Amino acid sequence: MKHLLKLTDLSESEILDILNLADQLKYEKKHNIEHHYLKGKSLGMIFQKSSTRTRVSFETGMYQLGGQALFLSPRDLQIGRGEPIEDTARVLSRYLDGIMIRTFAQQEVEDLAKYGSIPIINGLTDFAHPCQVLADLMTIREYKGEFDNLKLAFVGDGNNMANSLIVGCLKVGMRVAIACPDDHRPDAAVLEFAKAYGDKFTITNDVLKACEGADALYTDVWASMGQEQEAEERKNVFAGYQINSDALKVAAKDAMVLHCLPAHRGEEITADVMDAHPEIFDEAENRLHAQKAVMVKLMAEA
Ligand code: CP
Ligand code: NVA
Repeated sequence: MKHLLKLTDLSESEILDILNLADQLKYEKKHNIEHHYLKGKSLGMIFQKSSTRTRVSFETGMYQLGGQALFLSPRDLQIGRGEPIEDTARVLSRYLDGIMIRTFAQQEVEDLAKYGSIPIINGLTDFAHPCQVLADLMTIREYKGEFDNLKLAFVGDGNNMANSLIVGCLKVGMRVAIACPDDHRPDAAVLEFAKAYGDKFTITNDVLKACEGADALYTDVWASMGQEQEAEERKNVFAGYQINSDALKVAAKDAMVLHCLPAHRGEEITADVMDAHPEIFDEAENRLHAQKAVMVKLMAEA
């Protein structure tokens, strides 16, 4: 594994290796065992969109591993004034040991990897959010002990989270059910990928049908970053695509509720469900451990 661009690039065993290392790093952190596996290394973090979790977990994670992280705003970088991504990739590769980038087009992340010579980590694009799904899988395994045949139901927009959850969950042996409006289905390439998994993957407009017997209920905002102009219109389109007490009633007993956050209580999730499911915050914490594992895998020997 040279980069983390999207989960389709990873094998099941590469995903499990990351999760195992993440568990180890979480244990070491809890027991104050120093783990400076990236001493002297630098990570550049390019953010074309806002972030709370991704920024803080990468930055503190790099520090805990003995390295340093540089926050690079496109407002300050020459990228913002039109310097091509190819040249940026070549130049930053001469200074840094890895780059994490959050941006709009997946192609930009792929191009950084193509033209640079250091590991590239996708910190969210319009297409994918692989770091989040690694943390989600880590959390599911912590609570459920295994993945085999567990069912995850995703309710809402067929967005970057839906795309990455479908790929990540199917790869580790879970079943996935998506409930979304017809005009907001996941990416066509992801649906094509899911076809190979037969009836382990289903897609419907019916929220309760998707949630039936699910071991984990997952949702995300109705309007993602970059869709702020459509936010009002989307409230109508997605009305009803919500994780609430009715969804929990048809889910498996002890079903987990997951959300990548930030959440909009009263829209994609009700406040009562959100507040009764603290595993959402374990999930947020696990961003730190999962991403530290990704950085060690990619950068320790690079
Ligand atoms: N879940 C997630 O990526 O959060 P941020 O947008 O705060 O980084
Ligand atoms: N789908 C959301 C995820 C945020 C972590 C977005 O892209 O804004």
